[in-house]
Amino acid sequence: MDLQSKIAFVTGAGSGIGAAGARKMASEGAHVVVTDRDGDAAKAVADAITGAGHKAEAMTLDVTDDAALSGAIDQTVASHGKLDVLHSHAGIQIEGKLEQVAVADMDASWNLNVRAHFVAAQAAVRHMRKQGGGSIIITSSNSGVQYDREMIAYATTKHAVLAMTRQMAADYAHENIRFNSLCPGFIDTPFNRGFEIQMGGRDKLEEYISSEIPMGRFGTVEEIAEGIVYLASDRSSFMTGQALVIDGGECI
Ligand SMILES: NC(=O)c1ccc[n+]([C@@H]2O[C@H](COP(=O)([O-])OP(=O)(O)OC[C@H]3O[C@@H](n4cnc5c(N)ncnc54)[C@H](O)[C@@H]3O)[C@@H](O)[C@H]2O)c1
Repeated sequence: MDLQSKIAFVTGAGSGIGAAGARKMASEGAHVVVTDRDGDAAKAVADAITGAGHKAEAMTLDVTDDAALSGAIDQTVASHGKLDVLHSHAGIQIEGKLEQVAVADMDASWNLNVRAHFVAAQAAVRHMRKQGGGSIIITSSNSGVQYDREMIAYATTKHAVLAMTRQMAADYAHENIRFNSLCPGFIDTPFNRGFEIQMGGRDKLEEYISSEIPMGRFGTVEEIAEGIVYLASDRSSFMTGQALVIDGGECI
């Protein structure tokens, strides 16, 4: 078990990729703090983990509330004595090109997709320094390494995540605090509803996936969870400042 006795904190973990990562880290021995702005969803994920005989607890947390976010990380350390892994995952996708995206939606994208990761990482490093290291995983997207059509708010914020992760990695490598970005491609979760509508419905989205993704399919949340455990654990102990792209070949 690669995460035995580790304490992991995950945002946006009530659904999709965050939930799968939480389940997989718990199955590898971590105690996982499952947080989401939807407290019932977080509780359901934590209950399923404990029901399977692993360790987890739930917290209601909207990551756009700075004080609540840093307070939840501090509370985790107060309860468990340390924080080994932060997976800062919650994000938002606003579709549209320059003239279609309202300034308020651009701000909302930057607040959640960039600023909240900054606040979470800032809270985590204070604790990780004292304990001699840790792993911080920030969810970007393969939209952080390529440009999508008509996705200015999403693509620019996801590129910014990579820049911020690399900068933080360079600044904290000597303290053994590692930062890496997780870059999934199309994974079939509720997150893609907006894109599905933009494409003209589920059939059109599936057509797009089978023709445009080299592997011809969506990825699964479990395939991304493998990457999360890799980045969280000492399996990736000499890796920092990198973007782990798991996308069926889409960005090639
Ligand atoms: N699913 C994909 O195809 C895909 C691909 C690339 C990157 N991503 C990234 O993964 C993340 C989410 O994707 P998912 O597939 O897990 O989505 P999902 O819709 O299955 O789950 C997202 C979760 O985040 C929570 N959330 C939303 N706003 C929040 C906030 N302000 N504070 C706390 N929680 C909040 C939601 O309640 C939900 O439970 C995003 O960062 C997204 O950019 C997803």
